[in-house]
Amino acid sequence: MPFENIELTTKDQLAYITINRPEARNALNKETLDEMVEALGRVAEQEEVGAVVFTGKGEKSFAAGADIKQLTEKSALDALNPQGMQYVYDRIESYEKPTIAMINGYALGGGCELAMACDIRVASTNAKLGLPELNLSIIPGAGGTQRLARLVGKGKALEMILTGKMMDAQEAVQFGLVSEAVAPEDLAARVEEVASTILSKGPLAVKLAKLSVHMGTETDMKTGLMLEKLSQAILFNSDDKNEGTQAFIEKRKAVFQGK
Ligand code: CAA
Repeated sequence: MPFENIELTTKDQLAYITINRPEARNALNKETLDEMVEALGRVAEQEEVGAVVFTGKGEKSFAAGADIKQLTEKSALDALNPQGMQYVYDRIESYEKPTIAMINGYALGGGCELAMACDIRVASTNAKLGLPELNLSIIPGAGGTQRLARLVGKGKALEMILTGKMMDAQEAVQFGLVSEAVAPEDLAARVEEVASTILSKGPLAVKLAKLSVHMGTETDMKTGLMLEKLSQAILFNSDDKNEGTQAFIEKRKAVFQGK
């Protein structure tokens, strides 16, 4: 089925999921979210793709949040829908390949929550991030109350959520909400650079590092440490660990197989 609300493209080892509703500042309606899930399913099957980049079409907006026009129709049952936006973002956070949010403008509400579900966030210097849901008398409902507090700390998260104030890119770097802010014209190249650095590592190690960090921060320290230990045990027995260590000793570039 062709996509109408997103674009799915690939370049080298990267898949790009571009929200394609610039006339609505890339607001995330149900159809867009459904297409995102479909795209993630397709990309999961593409072995040649090593990482996924999320971005928004146009120069103004990454994603301006849930589609407010559709929100007017929503009831309590919709908020409880197990296949809703929270589910989609959980899928992204636990996705089998690393994910990068390329934040090219406004990342608000569900847009900011989408970025926070990604492994890495790189913003353009004109990006603005925030969770303005309380202006609509709702709360961030796609992981925002949880992921923002984990990323920037409870105090700053409460300030952002309760005031609905947007953060500019520099402040977002300062608080660890994004990794870095680069000039708009350098954003795509910088994201490619970050992705290719990740892709130069052993794929199995990338997968298990991602899993250990995401799952480990959701559990107690002891369980997290055990998860780390078990992941390491898998890696110690892998061909890629033999290749990585041997390549270091032989002063050559490692060639990883992902096993
Ligand atoms: N939903 C639906 N339409 C949206 C939208 C949204 N979230 N954001 C923008 N649009 C539409 C506007 O209605 C407008 O459409 P029309 O041309 O048909 O009037 C068009 O996009 C352009 O919008 P603006 O004129 O407002 O553009 P701007 O450049 O002046 O401002 C903006 C951009 C700051 C992003 C502003 O549009 C805005 O504040 N949008 C709403 C942001 C928001 O509140 N997000 C939270 C949504 S709730 C949520 O996400 C819940 C959750 O936790 C999942």
